[in-house]
Amino acid sequence: MTRMRPAPILRHLFTLLITLLTAAGVQAQKRWTIGMSQCNLGEPWRVQMNADLANTARSHPELSIVFKDAQNDNLRQVAHINELVRSGVNLIIVSPKEAAPLTKPVRDAYAKGIPVIILDRRVLGSDYTCFIGADNKKIGRAAGRWIAARLGGRGKIVELKGLMTSTPGQDRHSGFLEGIKESSIEVVFEADMKWLEPNARKEMESALARFQTIDLVYAHNDPGAHGAYLAARAAGREKQMLFVGIDALPQEGQMYVKQGILAASFEYPTGGREAIETALALLRGKKVPKEIVLPSRVYTLENIDRGGEILGNP
Ligand code: FRU
Repeated sequence: MTRMRPAPILRHLFTLLITLLTAAGVQAQKRWTIGMSQCNLGEPWRVQMNADLANTARSHPELSIVFKDAQNDNLRQVAHINELVRSGVNLIIVSPKEAAPLTKPVRDAYAKGIPVIILDRRVLGSDYTCFIGADNKKIGRAAGRWIAARLGGRGKIVELKGLMTSTPGQDRHSGFLEGIKESSIEVVFEADMKWLEPNARKEMESALARFQTIDLVYAHNDPGAHGAYLAARAAGREKQMLFVGIDALPQEGQMYVKQGILAASFEYPTGGREAIETALALLRGKKVPKEIVLPSRVYTLENIDRGGEILGNP
């Protein structure tokens, strides 16, 4: 029988110790990669969402984010999600363009066990880990009530809708109808401007050509309300009507309110910070709620200096 001499034993122990310490070290600085599929970056609101995600992630060195921009193309966004799955990211955040076409890639990623956070616009069904966004129906209803009160219960309105195949467009419309249902407000012209300022401007030109009296324009986002304002100003009619929008970014909607361009803007928070906080909780193995509903505010000239006013319930 050969007896092991003390030196080799010590060497073994030393190797074991180094292995354990290295494993612990790797654990401590473990990096997670989040894939973020953004539907487009053409509007300030989405640029802000990505900035909110990146700024929040910056204080968590264990996180890195791979950003994809689908440039408002459903097929490209589907390809991006599939690509993120193949590249082995630890979690995916998706802000979908439209509900129906994005449902399958989200469901496939989720079925593979990858946590998926849906931000802002929804997909169909519930095959995802968590949805984060403000309540668009509530915002639409609040806008309807605010407008009815502001116009004294009657008036002719133009409604410029967001993309009606996306859920915020549908909810901001149905909520609005609920909000004005007790009033005698008449929607004389409505069009889908697909969230885009140039489309809103064109649609508003048609509305102005057809109707001599327009009391207010309700647009589903601030770029839409601003496009309508530009069309009315070009026709010399911007002082005859009010403009109301949604998003209320400090550098966009809130600024328009301060400048007197918009009578009101309803806040639509980007959810970027909440998405990173939720992603971290999931990556650390915690349970998170299926739905995280973000609060919203209304900004008007009267309340903007005190930070707007929070929308109450319901
Ligand atoms: C930006 C945007 C916002 C709007 C949101 C709705 O693409 O149009 O202006 O509030 O998307 O999903």
